[in-house]
Amino acid sequence: MADKPTKRGTATAAVILAAGMGTRMKSNLPKVLHPILGEPMIDYGVRALESAGVSRIIAVLGRGADQVEKVLGDRIRPVYQKEQLGTGHALMTALPELKGYEGGDCLVIYGDMPLLTAETLAALCGEHADKRARATVLTAVVDDPKGYGRIIRKGGGIAAIVEEKDADEDQRLIKEINAGAYCFDISWLAKALNELKPANAQGEYYLTDVIGWLVGQGQAVAGYQTPDPEEIQGVNDRVQLAEAQDGLRQRIIKRHMLEGVTFEEPAATIVGPFVEIGRDTVIETGCQLLGKTKIGEGCVIGPRSRIIDSGIGDGTVANQSQITECEVGRDCDIGPYTYMRPGCVLEDKVKAGAFVEMKLAVIAAGAKVPHLSYMGDCTVGEKANIGAGTITCNYDGVVKSQTTIGAGAFIGSNSNLVAPVTVGDGAYTAAGSTITQDVPANSLGIARGKQSNIIDWRIKAGK
Ligand code: UD1
Ligand code: CA
Repeated sequence: MADKPTKRGTATAAVILAAGMGTRMKSNLPKVLHPILGEPMIDYGVRALESAGVSRIIAVLGRGADQVEKVLGDRIRPVYQKEQLGTGHALMTALPELKGYEGGDCLVIYGDMPLLTAETLAALCGEHADKRARATVLTAVVDDPKGYGRIIRKGGGIAAIVEEKDADEDQRLIKEINAGAYCFDISWLAKALNELKPANAQGEYYLTDVIGWLVGQGQAVAGYQTPDPEEIQGVNDRVQLAEAQDGLRQRIIKRHMLEGVTFEEPAATIVGPFVEIGRDTVIETGCQLLGKTKIGEGCVIGPRSRIIDSGIGDGTVANQSQITECEVGRDCDIGPYTYMRPGCVLEDKVKAGAFVEMKLAVIAAGAKVPHLSYMGDCTVGEKANIGAGTITCNYDGVVKSQTTIGAGAFIGSNSNLVAPVTVGDGAYTAAGSTITQDVPANSLGIARGKQSNIIDWRIKAGK
């Protein structure tokens, strides 16, 4: 992962190009916001730049700029490319933001290459510095170069990049491709961009033409060929989106496995880039662990659980359950089929069982909600027992109200607790009660029609 770059070289400024229409995605969502393992695609590129030590990141935005800005916040400096006239044109719009940096180098990457790592960017900058180049191109040799720009070499050195649509038959056979990441001497980049002409098959200003132009000016152009061609996978359509997600998924899960986490079926498991998992935890088949989820040691998660932005304590089991923005303690027993909505806190050794929905529920240590309940806007005291079918009636159509259940309380099956209401410590409610008034500590609340039996009713009715 991009966490610990082995720095060979650095650039202080970078530009990420993300204004393209993303036409091939056939989507209403800007391409760079399509999620990969739960995070927007562009976040991967921005993070790689940050980890490579870049301090100023300029993002060229176009379609859906406001949405992209919202996602990236002040991590980037936005510039707007009103018309998408090509990657060279996109970089031109970023030039004013590089004022003051002309003496140095800048990294340029495309927003659609989520597998690129900070290590590779550092190696690219290192090569650029070693070769004292005006431009250094990240290249890769791939089995199927279709769709990529081809690297044209002369006497070993890079002479130009030719786009697939402009390439002749021989050039199309070339397997060394342009990955879409560059290190540029900023002042020479500015000169080269000025000279670009849209005289090509797509009528666009190609950034790739900068390379041929610099070579023509007798300037040094270098190439850094990545040893890991998987990293340069570009995402242009949904097939490549799935392939990129698969590559990242494998990389992330492998890292966890090497740290002592068991994955029952890695290929059927989704783990986001920020998820932490303790050793000896078993992730069973079909799980999705996303966002800033942190799972402790010795847990069993799944099969088929979905956990987002939540903390799970050591030794907890969460089977076939959905948990979003919740904090779960140690040795809890969740599921199957527990639905924990945002704001729940389960202390240690809590049981939350089958078909239980919870929202903003704070459940103290050792309490049990084993079956078929709705627990919303409530606190439950230590070791309380909530009978099957209990409902906290937290909403009267206008406002939400709180239910408080004391320590050691026993809520009878099928109780309705009409909030606001308190059931005191050690209190009971009778099964089937609709509790509308507080039940004092150690008392029994009973609120249901009294049973009367009509003796021999069937016989008398002649049934
Ligand atoms: C580009 C390269 C190709 C390379 C490939 C690597 C060019 C001309 N071609 O092709 O050599 O092999 O990437 O994946 O650079 N963008 C803008 N404004 C525009 C056009 C594009 O910001 O006017 C952005 C897009 O949002 C995208 C990136 O630039 O993030 C690349 O554009 P894309 O259309 O995907 O280029 P490719 O055809 O993949
Ligand atoms: Ca692309």
